Amino acid sequence: MQRTKIKEILSSAPQGQTVKAQGWVRTFRNNQFIAINDGSTINNIQAVVALNTFDDTLLKRITTGACISVEGELIASVGKGQAVEIKVNQLTVLGDSDPEEFPLQPKKHSLEFLREKAHLRVRTNTISAVMRVRHAMAFAIHHFFNERGFTYVHTPIITGSDAEGAGDMFRVTTLNINNPPRDESGHVDHKEDFFGRETNLTVSGQLEGETYALALGDIYTFGPTFRAENSNTTRHLAEFWMIEPEMAFYDITDNMQLATDLLQYLVRYALDHCKDDLEFLNKRAHEEEATKPQEQRSELSLLERLRFVIENDFQRLTYTEAIDILRNSNPNKKKKFHYLVDQWGVDLQSEHERYLVEKHFKKPVILYDYPKDIKAFYMRQNDDGKTVAAMDVLFPGIGEIIGGSQREERYDQLLKRVHEMNLPEKDLWWYLDLRKFGSAPHAGFGLGFERLILFVTGMTNIRDVIPYPRFPKSAEF
Ligand code: 4AD
Ligand code: MG
Repeated sequence: MQRTKIKEILSSAPQGQTVKAQGWVRTFRNNQFIAINDGSTINNIQAVVALNTFDDTLLKRITTGACISVEGELIASVGKGQAVEIKVNQLTVLGDSDPEEFPLQPKKHSLEFLREKAHLRVRTNTISAVMRVRHAMAFAIHHFFNERGFTYVHTPIITGSDAEGAGDMFRVTTLNINNPPRDESGHVDHKEDFFGRETNLTVSGQLEGETYALALGDIYTFGPTFRAENSNTTRHLAEFWMIEPEMAFYDITDNMQLATDLLQYLVRYALDHCKDDLEFLNKRAHEEEATKPQEQRSELSLLERLRFVIENDFQRLTYTEAIDILRNSNPNKKKKFHYLVDQWGVDLQSEHERYLVEKHFKKPVILYDYPKDIKAFYMRQNDDGKTVAAMDVLFPGIGEIIGGSQREERYDQLLKRVHEMNLPEKDLWWYLDLRKFGSAPHAGFGLGFERLILFVTGMTNIRDVIPYPRFPKSAEF
């Protein structure tokens, strides 16, 4: 007989029909009640085995972690916690699991412990809920852009240029690192390398994305990016996914509006489509909050935070306005900030960003018009000669979730910045070409996918929202 997914079984009315469910045993109580989960939903189906109907040796194999198949009548459940259950008449063990060795016991495990069992942790309620939400968000992103006529572009993962300067790069090479070929001056000779030049894993698809926007109009990328920064934080990964839309004929204001629309759309989509998982995660986040000291607790629950984001406009203000607020803020005057804000031009730290969002405005913030010296070369130079049309979207509990800008579309100005910042002009020839042949005003941004998932799920460590996190000194699995 055909197997039915547990999600579907749970929403069926019991009408004497026989159903077949397959999945992993979560618990087996009183030699009678098996809770089975198949990943289609956070909820388990209860399978009931009548006493003395199955062999003891078979029942002994029904252990937490084992994979089983059950067939039987779908009946209304008398117990509380579920509407229907399966009265089992056929029971097969598809895969045994030694209960002495299986690391996931039917109790709460810490997220740290689970990270070391990354190959099994998706069998827990928390991680499986996160991964279903992650899927829903990926799907919704494509939906959002497709509805608006954007073209999905696959920018390369192996790149020849290190021009963007968004972070340190991972080298890609097939040379023998123990004995690489060398040129006359003793330097490693990359002409002998696979691509005949130095290559790296990309830090961003933006520069290639821009070339496509200036032909297709509105494009977006959605792929993995790599940064070899040694940042051991709850917000950074060495391998993360990024969504980068790039739009011809957009200015910085259009860009801010699209970023707002995208984020609000995604949060609304999660609320509409991930109800069970979000309710579970809401409860989980609430329990985690309760373990923190009062002053560190968030005022809103996860679900309240999500609703708050779709119901409120994001506060827009310039970097210069933000500096004024921060300079006069209590934590700055009382020297509570780790980095004190004393002068215009300093880069903002996440403590500053979070102060603006969580304490001062109490809503998402879009900061724009940053000093040109702390931003990338490609950002459009403003008429004041000091700032560029950059924008960062800052979220509660997260800090920066989006970074973007209007791009410098004027050849002379762009080239001047390339020189001032000592960037390799020869590697950027194709990017500069874009400003020679039918240049156009354009803008774009990058949304960190895992930071979005952190926000939507209420998880607090980025390593728990990607299947196999990559961070310094860790690439097991
Ligand atoms: O601000 P970033 O570095 O911007 C860019 O890469 C631009 N090329 C984007 C564009 O304009 N097309 O990164 C964009 C976003 C950040 O706001 C953050 O959400 C995320 O990517 N991000 C990271 N997420 C996880 N781990 C890291 N190490 C990240 N670095 C950036
Ligand atoms: Mg940034």
